[in-house]
Amino acid sequence: MSAPLLSVTGAVKRFGGVQALRGVDFDLKAGEIHALLGENGAGKSTLMNLLSGVYTPDEGTIHIDGKPVHLNNPREAQAAGIATIFQELDLVPTLDVAANLFLGRELMRPGGFLDVPAMRREAKKRLEAIELAIDPARLVADLSIGQRQVVAIVKALSYASRVLIMDEPTAALTVAEVERLFDIIRKLAASGVGIVYISHRLEEVPEIAGRVTVMRDGRVAGVTEPHAPQAELVRLLVGRPLDELYPPTRQDSRQAAAQPARRELPSVPRKRRLAGPDQRVARRA
Ligand SMILES: Nc1ncnc2c1ncn2[C@@H]1O[C@H](COP(=O)(O)OP(=O)(O)OP(=O)(O)O)[C@@H](O)[C@H]1O
Ligand SMILES: [Mg+2]
Repeated sequence: MSAPLLSVTGAVKRFGGVQALRGVDFDLKAGEIHALLGENGAGKSTLMNLLSGVYTPDEGTIHIDGKPVHLNNPREAQAAGIATIFQELDLVPTLDVAANLFLGRELMRPGGFLDVPAMRREAKKRLEAIELAIDPARLVADLSIGQRQVVAIVKALSYASRVLIMDEPTAALTVAEVERLFDIIRKLAASGVGIVYISHRLEEVPEIAGRVTVMRDGRVAGVTEPHAPQAELVRLLVGRPLDELYPPTRQDSRQAAAQPARRELPSVPRKRRLAGPDQRVARRA
């Protein structure tokens, strides 16, 4: 069997007294869409930051194609083919699409002038490669959130093209934009890019992912099928069965509120509610 495209074994990361990762194993294959789920504070972003060179692990090893690597900073991760899209897209709204795609790597004409036509031509080609008909001369500020998301993907992939890590990419998208993004993600995966897809939205997982890793409290709670029943995913997320989370009556929940010892529900911030039945979990948190 060939080695995974990217893997990490035994990852430990501490921030002062906080142990964000307590020995995490994770792997990503070429062409795979691997969802990473977990409640707030589970360690998802910390893991993603290790894989993208933002942090170095206190213990554990990252491998690319089975070979151990040290990713000391984001540039080294990029050089190794790992691109990351953080929730705050690093685009400059006051610049046009082409200028954003070439930010810091501008194409120049002899004499030290920017070669704007060449950058726009190249930008158009890259956008069209994922079937995005955006005029490269448009200001990013004038694009929808979904279009910006895709420009950020094109930009990230122009630095690095083997692994794409996305932290909650659909949080601010409309339903139509999510579908469009999923099409693009599937296309990238079909071309061999490995994708780590971090999400809070359980209902998205079967639609997009081929495999799911659920993190809880700095550990991997389980690796499962995206088509696992939601109840199973919720159990992995919160560490106990679904029915124990649901207050049978209003009175019961009032009693629960009066008993702090029984209120160890997962904390989900309001803006990141789980969909479907899990919304009740979010509301109570
Ligand atoms: N730079 C940091 N300094 C101190 N503690 C941190 C730092 N980054 C993360 N932590 C802590 O590490 C734990 C894991 O955080 P992390 O951000 O990885 O979780 P997450 O799964 O991404 O959560 P969320 O869903 O809220 O984004 C949390 O307890 C968090 O408070
Ligand atoms: Mg996070």
